[in-house]
Amino acid sequence: MSNETSNISQSMLTELNSVFTQTFGAAPARHFQAPGRVNLIGEHTDYNDGFVLPCAIDYQTLVAVTPRNDMTVKVVAVDYSNQQDEFSLDCEIEAHATQLWSNYVRGVIKHLQLRGHVFKGANLAITGNVPQGAGLSSSASLEVVIGETFRGLYKLSLTKAEVALNGQEAENQFVGCQCGIMDQMVSACGSKFNALLLDCRSLDAELISMPENLAVIIINSNVKRGLVDSEYNTRRLQCEAAARILGLTALRDISLTELQNNKDKLPEVVYRRAHHVVSDSERTVLAAQALRTNDVVQLSKLMAESHISMRDDFEITVPPIDFVVKILTEYLGDKGGVRMTGGGFGGCMVALMPHSMVDGAKQLLVERYQVETGYKETIYICSASDGAGEF
Ligand code: GLA
Repeated sequence: MSNETSNISQSMLTELNSVFTQTFGAAPARHFQAPGRVNLIGEHTDYNDGFVLPCAIDYQTLVAVTPRNDMTVKVVAVDYSNQQDEFSLDCEIEAHATQLWSNYVRGVIKHLQLRGHVFKGANLAITGNVPQGAGLSSSASLEVVIGETFRGLYKLSLTKAEVALNGQEAENQFVGCQCGIMDQMVSACGSKFNALLLDCRSLDAELISMPENLAVIIINSNVKRGLVDSEYNTRRLQCEAAARILGLTALRDISLTELQNNKDKLPEVVYRRAHHVVSDSERTVLAAQALRTNDVVQLSKLMAESHISMRDDFEITVPPIDFVVKILTEYLGDKGGVRMTGGGFGGCMVALMPHSMVDGAKQLLVERYQVETGYKETIYICSASDGAGEF
């Protein structure tokens, strides 16, 4: 066992094993997991070759698996009413017409083949407790756990970073969302008690220990993320336009001061998009330093600035989320930070705060969020966790 099992929900595992056994007639041979993630700071910086600072969380996608001696892959999805999928590794893997979840599995396996890996089939059951559509990377955790499963079963010669890159390729080319590399990298390479400062150009990753005095709280606004793929892809195009006009490979290649000096060259909206990306990437490096030195005042300030930048320059927040960030920022003062996390247009916020302030924060949300917005929050208390592996 390469990973600890302590933070894996035993009831989820029992259900997974029972569905596997009912479906395939015998208990599974092995188990793999890959976590979701929360990004502490550095949003929409990954596909601009910038820096991000996420950690893997103790919510995972789990796979129970037995290898097969033929070229068939059979899959059952516990969280989709035990829907099944079956395909052959001998034919070109096509998209499933109706089951979106199947396409993550098919895409990852197809891209492993495209990388030249040769392997046989498997019987798989999948379940998970990463909230879906909430900006906590349930899709990336599915991509990574499937890659990790085939790597483990067939001893494929792949690094963890390659498992992540393969998942991103599947999402970009097979599923059709132009995501960056952050989510898959932290799901594959995360580490217990640590955040990951990731350089999305070189993929160099530095583990940064999470201060023990700070709780990691995720607040799900439960605002359903509308238009997320199209808005995401539009932001990406605007960033690429900014880089092109400025003659850069990516927005990574300009400092905030240089960008400000070149403001006149860019259309107004494109400038604001670039301003967010360049400033958030710089804030990420500063936030990593603040984490290292346990400088909570600086961390709080950077998280507040990051949120304002996402709200005003990148325009990816929504009013219920801005409301929560406002009341929690007032409550926390300089003792903790809060900001929206993930792709935007709904989903979750991340807050770092002293353990002693958690109950007060929850109380504030219970009293004010639903009354003000009509939505009901869900709160997850998380710990930074290990990345993908067998358990
Ligand atoms: C989504 C994408 C990531 C990243 C974030 C925004 O989670 O999958 O690659 O771009 O949005 O930071």
